[in-house]
Amino acid sequence: MPPRLPKGAGVVAIGLPLLLFLLLAALAISPAIFWTLFPHEDSAATASATQPARYSSSEGIRLIAQSEPNDTSNDPYRREPWLGEDAWIAAIQAGQEYIAQHPEPQNVQVLKGMTTGEVWSYMIHMSGALGVSCQYCHDISNYAADPYPQKISGRLMIRLVQDLNTQYLSQIPTWAGNYVQCATCHQGQPNGMLAFSARNSYTPASPNANNANALQTFVIDTYAIAPSAEFVTAHPTTGKMLSMTNFMRENWDKYVLPNPDYQELLGQLPINNRQDFIVIDETVYSAPNCYTCHMGNRIPTGAISRYDLRRMEDGGWTLLPDMLRSGEVDPETGRAVSQK
Ligand code: HEC
Ligand code: HEC
Ligand code: HEC
Repeated sequence: MPPRLPKGAGVVAIGLPLLLFLLLAALAISPAIFWTLFPHEDSAATASATQPARYSSSEGIRLIAQSEPNDTSNDPYRREPWLGEDAWIAAIQAGQEYIAQHPEPQNVQVLKGMTTGEVWSYMIHMSGALGVSCQYCHDISNYAADPYPQKISGRLMIRLVQDLNTQYLSQIPTWAGNYVQCATCHQGQPNGMLAFSARNSYTPASPNANNANALQTFVIDTYAIAPSAEFVTAHPTTGKMLSMTNFMRENWDKYVLPNPDYQELLGQLPINNRQDFIVIDETVYSAPNCYTCHMGNRIPTGAISRYDLRRMEDGGWTLLPDMLRSGEVDPETGRAVSQK
């Protein structure tokens, strides 16, 4: 006689394999996703002793699926819960049905040239980076609609990643091939990311950079001041980073919609907080700076390396689409013509 399973085990026996099956179904669509979920040895070996482990979106996805469902009864946009196993499974299934109905996307403005299946795969990666299931940005009964400000911010942020990679990072003279992606700043949370500045008292761990002197001497007080031509010549990488950070902060209102929760801070700034609040046109924003990406590390742990992307079967197309990298991109297809 085979041993009998205790009562209740059936739910676990069905629930867990279903979750695994759905994750594996995602893997079947994109080998690239597979490699983020199970990073291969090469990328682990490139992390040196001083460099902590790179961000993994599989961890973000696991946390979304294992969280308790969030209570959205007071949500101003009437969104469905975006945490928990039920939310994740429902959204992934709705996504698969949407792909079957619309093999070509109906309303993409930045990710042009991707099939709906490819967009879906990139979205799974994006969700992991923000630690939220699809409902945070989508009404899952119609993925093409733009019903919530979070989706609009998400689109602006995809442009941000594109601008930072094409105009700044890939232009560093000694570029080591690391790109910025959502996880570089977000690291598993949709808002409230850390930053530090001369205006708040938050002091991060000391940067362990080769250029630690340049970082420590100039960053904390001067990151918001446009670097002089002499400075850029003397410190080309830090100079480029200062230009990038200044550009981003000056244009921050073009990359995110204002968070209504922050507006009451107007008139109270500067305040001591681990976020860096800036005011553009009477509107308060939480803005990123050096620390938001670097967090005391030479190479941000949430950056993604072009060498790791190239090793993937599809060139990592669904982890960081070509138009968000560098080099010449065909405007029709969005695919790389040449890539740095
Ligand atoms: C942070 C916000 C955000 C999250 C979370 C998110 N999406 Fe999206 N999604 C977007 C944006 C923005 C676009 C449009 C991109 C563009 O304009 O290039 C989009 C587009 C799509 C499309 C294409 C629809 C069409 O026909 O135009 C699909 C399908 C999709 N998302 C599925 C998903 C799925 C499935 C998830 C969860 C795994 C998800 N999204 C999570 C913001 C998000
Ligand atoms: C949007 C994210 C982001 C921001 C903001 C940012 N950096 Fe960086 N930084 C990176 C990435 C990614 C790299 C790795 C580039 C490469 O592969 O060469 C890098 C590399 C560097 C390096 C070279 C490290 C080395 O030894 O190779 C220095 C120095 C640096 N950043 C300083 C700064 C300073 C100073 C600021 C603030 C003014 C700043 N960064 C803001 C993403 C960022
Ligand atoms: C350079 C750092 C940086 C990068 C890279 C970045 N973000 Fe953001 N993002 C922020 C900051 C800072 C905020 C404001 C957070 C707050 O209001 O507390 C933000 C806000 C958002 C919001 C609005 C959240 C809310 O609840 O109001 C969404 C959605 C978002 N980002 C999505 C993305 C996506 C998707 C990507 C990648 C395509 C991305 N971000 C890349 C720094 C970044």
